[in-house]
Order: sequence, then C-alpha cells, then structure tokens
Amino acid sequence: MNLFEKIEETSAYIRGQIKETPTVGIILGSGLSGLANLIEKEATLHYSDIPHFPVSTVKGHGGELIFGRIGNCRVALMSGRFHYYEGYSMEAVTFPVRVMKALGVETLVLSNAAGGMNRGFGIGDLMLITDHINLFPEHPLRGPNDERLGTRFPDMSQPYDLELIAMAKDIAGNLSIPVQSGVYIGLQGPTFETPAEYRWLHVIGGDAVGMSTVPEVIVARHGGMRVFAMSVITDIGISDTPVTITHEEVLEAANAAAPKMAAIVAELVQKISA
Ligand code: HPA
Repeated sequence: MNLFEKIEETSAYIRGQIKETPTVGIILGSGLSGLANLIEKEATLHYSDIPHFPVSTVKGHGGELIFGRIGNCRVALMSGRFHYYEGYSMEAVTFPVRVMKALGVETLVLSNAAGGMNRGFGIGDLMLITDHINLFPEHPLRGPNDERLGTRFPDMSQPYDLELIAMAKDIAGNLSIPVQSGVYIGLQGPTFETPAEYRWLHVIGGDAVGMSTVPEVIVARHGGMRVFAMSVITDIGISDTPVTITHEEVLEAANAAAPKMAAIVAELVQKISA
C-alpha cells in the first residue's frame, strides 16, 4: 500500500469516528499537553487504535488524537508526537500531518520545547517561530513525489504564516504575556547539544534548537497548509560555564509555561476560524 492509500484509509476510519471535521490541527510538544483540557471533546482516539498510526513511546507524551471544539473552532489535537530519534521513519513522523490535511485541516499549529541560544532569552520564555533551519539528517519529502499530496519542489520562502504570527503577537499583548520571536533549528537528537554545538547553532542563525517540528512543518507546507509554531524555551545552551540539562528539567519548564502557551493558542485558533 502506498502513502496515498494509507492516508485515505486512515482518514476514512477517522471520519467514521467523528461528526465534525476539523479545520485546525494542533500538535503539542513535551510537557505542553494542558491545552487538551480546553477542548470540548467529541472523540478521543488512541494512536494504537488508528490504522497506520505509529505508537508513541516517550515519557510525557499522551498518544491520543483528540477531536472537538475550542470555542467555535473545530480542532484535531495530537497529544504526543512522533520523534525521529525514537526510530520512526520520516514518513511515520509526518503521517499525522498528512491525515489531518486529508480530513480538511487548513491550518496547523505546533508547539515544542526548545533550548535557547539567544542571549536575550530566559527559561520559560515563549518564542514565536518565524523561520527554521532544517538540520535533520533525512528529508521528509525524499523519495518519489506523489503530486496528489503536493509539488516536487515546494517553496519555503515563508513557511510560518506572517498573518498568524501577527495575530499571536496581538493576542499575547492583550493577555500581557511577553513573547520572543526567532529562528528554530531542528535536529535529530536525542543528545542535547555540546557547548560548542550551541555556539555554532547560534552563529548559523538559530535562536532556539529542538528535536521536532521541522519535519511536520515541511510536510504541512508541501500539502499547502498554513503553519504557526511556538517554542517554550526550557533551557539555555549559551553560557560561560557548561550547564547540564535533563529531560525532567525540560518537562518541568515546559509544564510551567504551558498555561501561557495554551491561552495564546486557544485564542488564536478561535480567531482563525472566526
Ligand atoms: N536541545 C535540543 N532539544 C531540546 C532542548 C535543547 O537544548 N531543550 C528542549 N529540547
């Protein structure tokens, strides 16, 4: 079965489980699953019950696809994403994005936990992603291109929608939540970076670094979706003395900042659908 057929089969299965098709897709990062509580839920599908869906393995990732409404906005929310470092293929990592697109999702909103390299950033800051650098060792669109899913050579001149960034800045301002903005560098992990790597990532133009998001964004753009993404800065890599980082600290910092992020995303998706 080829990718297109898998997408068709999965989306047909999901359509049979829900009454309202979503227009906005949301993918939540480590420690950021609180937003799921703001949804008036119609259906919760466990990844293990969805045909062709990979199954999530990482601590702090729920592994559910939740359908319902945030205000008047019909959403599909992935609580727990698939990371390349877990051993999934790029096709598996980005498969849920393809399925969302097939279900009618036009806008994709992503979040992640990331390490900060910008000296103006602090732990717990929110960063609106304005651009990215793809340092994953494998490209999600490598291989034969199915024109039904998108073009062979997608444009990447403006992957993160300017209007959505402006809306999020407005919303954050009204909620008195300070936000940073900057460039996210995606790489495979699972090691955190060495001090020299953080310095290098900053020199090449990164403000934050993490192990997700970029593959999903590429596939969303391939499919013609609008994209908005936000990082929570959970640790600072640039420092005069080496700083140790643990996954627990990342989760703790993400959890602490999650309500701020949830407040912004909840308003944003309602504005998108208004
Ligand atoms: N590096 C890579 N990924 C991360 C980091 C980091 O410092 N923090 C959270 N995810």
